[in-house]
Amino acid sequence: MLSFSLSGFPSLPLRRTEAYLRVSASFGIDTPQEPNSTNPHGHGSDAKHEDDFRKGKGKGSGRVIGGGGGVVIGRKKKKNAKEKVQWVCSNCGYSAGQWWGVCRSCSVSGTMKEARFGDDSDSVVSGFSVLEDGVGSWLPQQEGEMRPLRLAEVNRGLDHHHWRIPLSGPFGDEVSRVLGGGLVPGSLTLIGGDPGVGKSTLLLQIAAIIAEGHNDGETSPVVYVSGEESVEQIGNRADRLRIESDIYLYSSNDVEDILKKVQYLSPGALIVDSIQTVYLKEIMGSPGGIMQVKECTSALLRFAKKTNIPVLLIGHVTKSGDIAGPRVLEHIVDVVLYMEGEKYSSHRMLRAVKNRFGSTDELGVFEMSHSGLQAVSNASEMFLSEQHMDSEILAGLAVAVIMDGSRTFLIEIQALCLSGSTGSRQVNGIQVNRADMIISVLIKQAGLRLREHAVFLNVVSGLTLAETAGDLAIAAAICSSCLEIPIPNDVAFIGEIGLGGELRMVPRMEKRVYTVAKLGFRMCIVPKVAEKALGTEGLEKMKVVGCRNLKEVINTVFPNIMRR
Ligand code: TYD
Ligand code: MG
Repeated sequence: MLSFSLSGFPSLPLRRTEAYLRVSASFGIDTPQEPNSTNPHGHGSDAKHEDDFRKGKGKGSGRVIGGGGGVVIGRKKKKNAKEKVQWVCSNCGYSAGQWWGVCRSCSVSGTMKEARFGDDSDSVVSGFSVLEDGVGSWLPQQEGEMRPLRLAEVNRGLDHHHWRIPLSGPFGDEVSRVLGGGLVPGSLTLIGGDPGVGKSTLLLQIAAIIAEGHNDGETSPVVYVSGEESVEQIGNRADRLRIESDIYLYSSNDVEDILKKVQYLSPGALIVDSIQTVYLKEIMGSPGGIMQVKECTSALLRFAKKTNIPVLLIGHVTKSGDIAGPRVLEHIVDVVLYMEGEKYSSHRMLRAVKNRFGSTDELGVFEMSHSGLQAVSNASEMFLSEQHMDSEILAGLAVAVIMDGSRTFLIEIQALCLSGSTGSRQVNGIQVNRADMIISVLIKQAGLRLREHAVFLNVVSGLTLAETAGDLAIAAAICSSCLEIPIPNDVAFIGEIGLGGELRMVPRMEKRVYTVAKLGFRMCIVPKVAEKALGTEGLEKMKVVGCRNLKEVINTVFPNIMRR
């Protein structure tokens, strides 16, 4: 029976099953594992690596900057006769020649600490130089002298078919779609998103796919490093996700240590969760500070480019972006993906904000289930409620067709018009100015008596409508509620409304109309100009009705209104 405590385990990456065994060990389960059996390439003992590492490190230790106040993570500063005093913000790295109570860059108070620099120009340390300077001597060295290469020379050695690491299965396809194909070897990808949105889950699932390998039987392990969670916690999550691939788990915050350990495993990919929790000893500031985050990313970029191992980083950041967060890293990394999702909805969107290897026009749609993220097969209709699909009687509902990247989504717009109230407006998911304009146009150009009505507008599923293509559906929903006539559930609306009540063309009309037809809708109302431009192929089962203005729309959708 294993008798050692959990703290007695070697600090090497563990296979996922080993992590699980560690949990088992504490419950007294027998395991035959040897502490050093994690090194598949037999590069000798860990102690030897530590030794080599220390030797290499010695070369760089004299270049380290020191600091006051105990806030500096670093080695002993070199005694230097000609020292220069600087005041450096421990939060953002801003430096000044004098002390300030409040940092002039990040406005945080009490963070300016005294730092003494040698007068040699070498004293500035960066993520690049840390790895370059002997500390990273374990990195594969380039043979011979580097020289500029002809484009033809570069392309000759490239197998375009096998250039990317394929991600198989429906989940893999959805991720590949956002990446513009598979994962590019040697690329550095940053995945941002709110805490709890599912970034760790996403990357653990991506790790599983890469480790499983592809059709040609080629497999390589993936290393998942967490600075936030213990290996047992990640192992536990992997069990929930029923992952049995060859994944190595490692819990560490020290980038040098991580890269040193990972190098010997020669993995198919390295995942770092998250960039805010890791640090480089040579760099000033605490983990998560702008200097640490930037330099750690530079070090990981260097590692990715030199070893050709793709690196995926998690970053806690919202789209608005914090100045000290990974927003500043978008320039360093190759690909930036954002994961989005409403707090109370299980849908998650993955979108590319920057992509050096593909388009940023793509969107991945997932659903968070009890067994992880699943690709959504019917993304276009996922925001349509079931009641609406079955109901013929609900007034005030209209279906809009919006585009996000290259994807088309059908969403429901709800309107509630209460007569006898003052003309108050409550709007959810639509810009207030846009809603006001549409209501005014309906009053003036379509003769609706909305002045005496309170109007409530809502976009179902908590979405926000950013496109003018939804104008017509908003107007139709208001008309339906005001006139108390339901719109049949198989009618969709596409079009922008002008101040004269005229319907205007919107981009990618053809793609929107074909999606509506594919989903079995019976009628689609579009601006007159669009009707002429659309062909008939694929639209045999759906009637495309072109209207010039709102009056024509009302006559088409509510034909009996004129007879009342
Ligand atoms: P997580 O990946 O930890 O988020 P992040 O790394 O972005 O902080 O996922 C957090 C949420 O996902 C958590 O609230 C629980 C939920 N979840 C599921 O619903 N099903 C699952 O299978 C897993 C692993 C997580
Ligand atoms: Mg996480």
